Amino acid sequence: MDKLLVEGGAPLSGSVKVSGAKNAALPLMAAAILADGPLTLTNIPKLGDLRTMGKLLKHMGGEVNLYPESGDGYLEEGVLDMSRLANPEAPHELVKTMRASALVLGPLLARFGQAKVSLPGGCAIGVRPIDMHLKALAAMGAEFDLTGGDVVAKAPKDGLVGVDLRFDSVTVTGTENVMMAAVLAKGRTVIRNAAREPEVSDTARALVAMGAKISGIDSDELIIDGVDSLKAASHSIMPDRVEAGTLLAAVAMAGGRATLKGAKLNDLAVVMGKFTEAGVFLRAENGDLTIEAHRGLLSAVNVTTGPYPGFPTDMQAQFLALMCTSKGTSIITETIFENRFMHVAELKRLGADVTLEGRTAVVKGVERLSGAPMTASDLRASASLLLAAMAAKGTSEISRVYHLDRGYDRLDDKLNSLGAKIKRVKAS
Ligand code: EPZ
Repeated sequence: MDKLLVEGGAPLSGSVKVSGAKNAALPLMAAAILADGPLTLTNIPKLGDLRTMGKLLKHMGGEVNLYPESGDGYLEEGVLDMSRLANPEAPHELVKTMRASALVLGPLLARFGQAKVSLPGGCAIGVRPIDMHLKALAAMGAEFDLTGGDVVAKAPKDGLVGVDLRFDSVTVTGTENVMMAAVLAKGRTVIRNAAREPEVSDTARALVAMGAKISGIDSDELIIDGVDSLKAASHSIMPDRVEAGTLLAAVAMAGGRATLKGAKLNDLAVVMGKFTEAGVFLRAENGDLTIEAHRGLLSAVNVTTGPYPGFPTDMQAQFLALMCTSKGTSIITETIFENRFMHVAELKRLGADVTLEGRTAVVKGVERLSGAPMTASDLRASASLLLAAMAAKGTSEISRVYHLDRGYDRLDDKLNSLGAKIKRVKAS
C-alpha cells in the first residue's frame, strides 16, 4: 500500500483545475444502464471508485471506456454502452469496495425487471443502511428477498409503477436510485424530501438529456413522468465541489495565495462563507476562485453539517483540520454520519487539541502542529490528515492512502503543483 511522505511548512501558490465530481459520475454511470444507446461523458475524474463502477458495469455485460488503454492520461470523452446488458448482478467482491454500487439497483429494476445486488456493507464512517432505498422501491412495486447478504429484487411483470412518496430523512443515493427507477416506471412518481445535492441535479439533467421527464430539479420535490425508453446522450460531469473545498482548505491551512479553476462556486456558497468567517480571503472572478490566507492567523468558527445547501459532511474532516491551528475554540457537529471523526485521533498525534463528545468535536486551536506518522481510515479523513501534515512543522507519513485514491483525482499531484512537498512512496 502506497504511503505519502509530507514535508510541512510550504506555502501554496499558483493555480489548479478542479476535476469532475466523483459523486455525480457514480450515479451517471449507473444511469447508463437505463439507455438503449451509449451515454457519453466528459470531464471524467480519474479515481478508484469510477474504476470499480466500470468493472461492475462490465461484469453486467456493458461496454465501458472511461480511461485510455495505456492507463495514462485522460480520454476527451468516455463512453458507456449498456445496450447489451445481460447479467443484472452486482457481486459482493465489487460492492464491498464501493457501497455506491447500490446505485445500480433502481436502474436494473427499471430496465431489466430484476437485480441481485450484494447488500453494501458499512464503512468506517457508519453502518450506511439502504432501508430507505428499498422501502421506496417497494412502494413502486418491487419485491425484495434478502438472502445470503444479497438483495434479490424483482419488479412487477409489467414494470414498476409511479408513486407519491416522502423520504423520512434526506438520502442522496436513495433519491438518485428512486429517480432512476421512476424514469421508466408507469405513470408519475413524486419524491418528497428529495436530496438537493448538486450531484442529484446533475444526474437528473443527464436523464432529461436521455429523454426522461423530470421537473423540480434542484428542489426537494422531484416529479418524474415515466417514459418507454431512454436514448443515447452526452453529458459533461459537473465539477467536484468537495475536491474544490478540499483544495480551498489546503491553501487556508498551509497559507499562501492560489486559484482554483473550473469550480462551480454556487455549489460552495456555504463552505466559502465559513472560510471567510475564519479570515480566509476569497475572490471569485469569471468562475475562478482565488484564495489567500496566512498560516496560523485564522479564527475559530463553529460548523454543523447538514444536507445541501447546509455545510457538507464531506467537508467536515478538512474544516476540522483547519480549526486545529486557528485562534480560539471551534465546535464542530456532525449530524449525518454516526462515526465520522476517525481523523481526530490521528490529528491528535500531530498535537491537535480536540475533545469528542458524541457527534460534537470541541477543537481548541494550537500554535502549530508537529509532523508524525498517521494512518488514513476513510476518504475525507485521509484528505484531512494530508492538509494537517502540509501545515505541520517537520515531516509526516500517511499510510493506507488507497482511501485517498478512491475518491480524489491525483490530489497529491495537484497539491505539489501548488508548491506542497508530498512524496508518494509506492508499496514495495
Ligand atoms: C452520499 O452518500 C455520498 N456518496 C456521500 O459521500 C455523502 O457523505 C452523503 O451522500 C451525504 O451527503 C455518494 O454520493 C456516492 P445518504 P449516501 O443516503 O447517499 C442514512 C464521500 O465522501 N441512511 O445521504 O450513502 C445514512 O446512514 C461520500 O464522497 C439510512 O439510514 O448518504 C446517513 O446517516 C461519503 N437509510 C444518512 O442517512 C438509507 O436508506 C445520509 O445518508 C439511506 C441513508
